[in-house]
Amino acid sequence: MNIIVTENFAKTCELAAKMIGDVIRNKPDARLGLATGSTAQGVYPYLVAANKAGKLDFSRVNTVNLDEYVGLPADHPQSYRRFMDENLFNHINIDKKNTVVAKGTGDIDANVAAFREAIAEKPIDVQLLGIGVDGHVGFNEPGVVLYDGAHVEELDESTIDANARFFADRSEVPTKAISMGMGDILRAKKLLLLATGENKAEAMKGLLLNEELDVQNPATLVKTHPDVTVIIDRALADCIGYQA
Ligand code: GLP
Repeated sequence: MNIIVTENFAKTCELAAKMIGDVIRNKPDARLGLATGSTAQGVYPYLVAANKAGKLDFSRVNTVNLDEYVGLPADHPQSYRRFMDENLFNHINIDKKNTVVAKGTGDIDANVAAFREAIAEKPIDVQLLGIGVDGHVGFNEPGVVLYDGAHVEELDESTIDANARFFADRSEVPTKAISMGMGDILRAKKLLLLATGENKAEAMKGLLLNEELDVQNPATLVKTHPDVTVIIDRALADCIGYQA
C-alpha cells in the first residue's frame, strides 16, 4: 500500500482529485468508481474546479457508484443519486447517461441484477473509497461472510447512527442498501481510500498498523490489492500512532 499523510483534510481531497484527474488525463474514456459521504464530498469541488478551468474533460468519462440506499427514490434529498448529481454531475460536462447509481426503489432484485450488469460492462480504472466507522467500504458491513458481487446489505446500527446526521430523525435512515461487493471493489484497477476524523481511528488502525485481513473490518481487504493508495491527514495519523 502506498500510504500518504497530508497536512489536513483539504490537502487530502486536493491530492485525491489530482490523482483521479491524472487517470482521466491518461485515459479520457476512463471509468471512475465513485463514493458518497462527507469524505468523498470534499474531493468533488476540486474535480468541478478543474473541469470549469478547462483542465479536465468528463465528456467521455463513465462512472459507477458504490452504493445506494434501499427505499429512497432517486430524487430524495438523501439518495446517493441526488448526492452525486448535486455534488458532481450537475457541475461538470459529463453525460448523465454515463453515470451509474443503483436504483433503490421498485423491484430491488431486478435493480441488483441491473447494477451487476452495469458493473460488469467495463472495468473500473480508479475506485474512490471512504471508510465507515466500523470499517465498511461501500456498504460492505463487518460480518463472518463478505460478498463478492453487488447485493443488498443490512446496515449496522453504528452505520445508521453515523448516517443519522443527514436525516431529520434516526428512524428515517434506511436500514438496507444496495452495495457493490468486496470483489467488485477489489477488481478496480486502482484504489484510492481516504479517511479523516477520530471516529475512523479504530478502523484505520486495522488497515494501517498490522497485516491482518479481518472480515470484521472489511476495509482491511484492500491490503491485498496491488495498487492502493491510502491518504490520511496528520491529525488522524497522530491519533492512531501511524508513522511513515
Ligand atoms: C457511508 C458510505 C460509504 C462511506 C462511509 C463514510 O455510509 N456508504 O461509502 O465511505 O459511509 O462516510 P463519511 O465519509 O461521511 O464518514
